[in-house]
Amino acid sequence: MQRSGGASKAVAVGFLVAGLVSCTGQAARQRHYPFQDASRPIAARVEDLLGRMSLPQKIAQMVLVERNTASPEDVGSVGLGGVLSAGGSAPDPNTAANWAQMVDGYQKAALQGPLPVPILYGTDAVHGHNNLVGATLFPHQIGLGATRDPALVQRVEQATAQELAGTGPRWDFAPCVCVVRDARWGRTYESFGEDPRLVTSMGSAAIEGLQGANVLATAKHYLGDGGTTGGTDQGNTQLTEAQLRAIHLPPFRAAVDQNVASVMISYSSWNGAKLHGDRHLIQDVLKGELGFKGFVVSDFDGIQQMDGQRGLTATEVSAAVNAGIDMAMLSDDWRSFIDLLSAEVGKGHVPLARINDAVRRILTQKFRFGLFEHPYTDRSLASTIGSPQHRELARQAVRESAVLLKNDGRVLPLPKTGGKIFVAGDNADDIGNQSGGWSVTWQGHSGPITRGTTILAGIRGAVAGQTTVTYNRGGNGLDSSYRAAIAVVGERPYAEGRGDSPSGVRLADSDTAMLNRLSAAGVPLIVVLVSGRPMDVHEQLPSWRALLAAWLPGTEGEGVADVLFGDYNPTGRLPLSWPATAIQEPMNAGKGRTPLFLNGYGLSF
Ligand code: BGC
Repeated sequence: MQRSGGASKAVAVGFLVAGLVSCTGQAARQRHYPFQDASRPIAARVEDLLGRMSLPQKIAQMVLVERNTASPEDVGSVGLGGVLSAGGSAPDPNTAANWAQMVDGYQKAALQGPLPVPILYGTDAVHGHNNLVGATLFPHQIGLGATRDPALVQRVEQATAQELAGTGPRWDFAPCVCVVRDARWGRTYESFGEDPRLVTSMGSAAIEGLQGANVLATAKHYLGDGGTTGGTDQGNTQLTEAQLRAIHLPPFRAAVDQNVASVMISYSSWNGAKLHGDRHLIQDVLKGELGFKGFVVSDFDGIQQMDGQRGLTATEVSAAVNAGIDMAMLSDDWRSFIDLLSAEVGKGHVPLARINDAVRRILTQKFRFGLFEHPYTDRSLASTIGSPQHRELARQAVRESAVLLKNDGRVLPLPKTGGKIFVAGDNADDIGNQSGGWSVTWQGHSGPITRGTTILAGIRGAVAGQTTVTYNRGGNGLDSSYRAAIAVVGERPYAEGRGDSPSGVRLADSDTAMLNRLSAAGVPLIVVLVSGRPMDVHEQLPSWRALLAAWLPGTEGEGVADVLFGDYNPTGRLPLSWPATAIQEPMNAGKGRTPLFLNGYGLSF
């Protein structure tokens, strides 16, 4: 499947599942098997089911297929283990009802297969159920890291789980427990921060929130994805094992202690060797030493990348499975995976015991999360999608995530009444920009991509009395009659490697020119940065009166206004060091360099 080009990783043909089903009841099978008896212990149910499966059926359970590359009939007849929606892969029209119908269509087909085994439907709900139009989009993880509030993160993930389950998927490819060590990495915003302790506590809270609401969580990406040289996505992490363990392993250890259902392997390499084939780290460390009881899933078509060539080979398949990967996330190659793995088992290259172990792990989680008893979408949860309660929670997360970095002469908070306020900048009135990547589409998109409140709308809603708010996107028209100017600038949406910024993260020239113009007007200039990471602001900062890092807040822009107008006294603290210049990366605590703002920095009024 094409991964490049287009906003969705899942282009290609869509299969029609609409109209296929209306299935609110339980699995309608004539025969009743012991494994269907919920009063039996899970281990006994797993053994009963495993004992009834042929080798091809077992191998099929190990396949997680992208929805655009397998129809419900494929899933049912072959008995595939799971189906996913990759970034931006959604039914058309993209509504909650269509999601539920799609997921239930796959589920019904699976339950009508030769053995009634439910699928796991997975997707990336990495800041809310972000593939769904109308869902509540919470701040990306970097912002949640800034809140330093694990209890809040737990509630955010619980809400995410409800919105997800209300449309069918019961498996979330989140949280990313990556420890970002170089903000040039395009996935920086998916990390809770640079400090393993912070990532550990936030990651654990996220898992508790998701799994407590009966959704399988995924700790990803194992291991060292945030530590690649130069911040290159899918790159190479050059560390000794002791360093790797000290920086990148702690959040996974905690995730295992939380009984996380799944762990996703990283595309990246450790000292030149692909993680997808790292038997030591997966079998010995994760499953052995840490005692991980869930299942290990590959990244999307990640097994194909192991030899650096296109296409899937027998060597890659056996190396990945022998390394300890239990489930393969695949698009077009899923049939060849089944053929290749069957042949490799036949040749004795992959022990049957390894296959049984993999399937046991997958089935155990399906039983544990009640998929056999409740395979279909819980439509009673649909009312939580984008609900006022969830949006209020998101707004709280936004205001708690904002980090006040400068406030000269206490220009903030702004009074709500009196005078005129000027607002400028590309990110002031743009739901797409303030949501970032992984928002409706994989890469995200500027513009009104979904419902929500922009930062500008939040500002307009906050002012009172005779106060007027004038907005000019390009920053034209500011004069000394205004009390203050608020410029909302920063980054445009991106995801994964497309956000890599090898030469450092800077403001666009057009933004710098606009900010210079605004500061020349002699009106106090307040800059709100909407970005997935620190940006080089050292040259312009002296002419700004205030700087507020809002990260990628998501759909509830009022949370930013809550801080600007003093309804909330900022508590956000930087979850990573803020470099003094773009070329200062890698810049994290302990590197012996002096950042502009230290990890943990943040002002209050
Ligand atoms: C990403 C994963 C994600 C997967 C499925 C991959 O490209 O690296 O984080 O879970 O796609 O969308």
